[in-house]
Amino acid sequence: MASLPLPAPPVSASPLRQLTLQAAAAILVLSLAWPYYGLKAEALPWWETSLVIGGVAGLLATLTRQPWWWRVMHAAFVPLGWVVSQLAIDPGWFLLAFFLLLLVYRGAVTEQVPLYLTNRATVAALAQLLADRPPSAFLDLGAGLGSTVVPLARSLPGWSFAGVENAPLTWLAGRLRSLGQGNLAWRWGDLWHADLAGYGVVYAFLSPAPMAALWDKVRAEMRPGTLFISNSFAVPDAAPGRVVEIPGTPPRRLYLYEIAAG
Ligand SMILES: C[S@@+](CC[C@H](N)C(=O)[O-])C[C@H]1O[C@@H](n2cnc3c(N)ncnc32)[C@H](O)[C@@H]1O
Repeated sequence: MASLPLPAPPVSASPLRQLTLQAAAAILVLSLAWPYYGLKAEALPWWETSLVIGGVAGLLATLTRQPWWWRVMHAAFVPLGWVVSQLAIDPGWFLLAFFLLLLVYRGAVTEQVPLYLTNRATVAALAQLLADRPPSAFLDLGAGLGSTVVPLARSLPGWSFAGVENAPLTWLAGRLRSLGQGNLAWRWGDLWHADLAGYGVVYAFLSPAPMAALWDKVRAEMRPGTLFISNSFAVPDAAPGRVVEIPGTPPRRLYLYEIAAG
C-alpha cells in the first residue's frame, strides 16, 4: 500500500445530459431525413437512419469528450433499439426485465449509485488498515452483496461489522451470505438514515454523486478519532489524511479521512 497525492475526482455524466445528447442526434438526423424522403415520396429507411443517428450520437459524445464507454453506448443505442424492435418481443418481457433490474440496481436510479463490488485486493487492504487500529465497529454504507463486510467479519473476529443496503435482491443475497456470521449485522435500510455515531470506521463505495452530502453527514455524526474511508471517490473540497493505492485492474484508491474534533 502506498500513499499518493490527491487526484482530481472523477467527472460524473448526468443521465439528463446523456438523454439530451441522444435526443439531439435523433432530432438532427430526422429533421433532415424526413423532409428529404418526404419530397422523394419514399419511405424512410429506418435501419440506415438508425445507423446515422448512432453515428451522430457517437460523434457528439466524442466532441463533448465523454469516456470511451459512453461513446460506444451512444453510437450503439438507436441501432440496437431498431434491431430489438424487429424481434417483435412482447413488451411485457421488457417490463419484467426492468423490474428485475430495479430489484438489484435501485441505487442507480435513486442515488446514481449502481452495484459494483469491492475487489479482494481492496478487502485485504481494508483488513490491514483495521488490524492496525484497536478493534471497534465498522459500517459499510450501501453494502451490496456483502463483498466487503462478509470477508472482513471472518478475518477480524474481534471487530463488529454492519452493512446497510436498500436494493431488495442485493440485500437478500447479502443476507444469505452473512448467515451465521455472529459479528456481522446485515441491515435493510437507507444509508441516509443510518446513525454513524456508534462506529469507529465507516466505509463507502458509492459514486461521485452523493459524496458532498455524505461528507456533511459523516462530519455531523462520526466522533473525533474515528475514520471515514471512501473507495475510489474522493470527497470534494476535503483533503484526505491519506490515500492508499490498490494495484489491480482497475486499480482502486482508498481515501482516508480521520475525523477531527470540532
Ligand atoms: C458500488 S456498490 C458497493 C457495494 C459494497 N459496499 C461493496 O463494496 O462491495 C453501492 C451499493 O450501495 C447501494 N445503495 C445505493 N444507495 C443506497 C441507499 N440510499 N441506501 C442503502 N444502500 C444504497 C446500492 O444498491 C449498491 O449495492
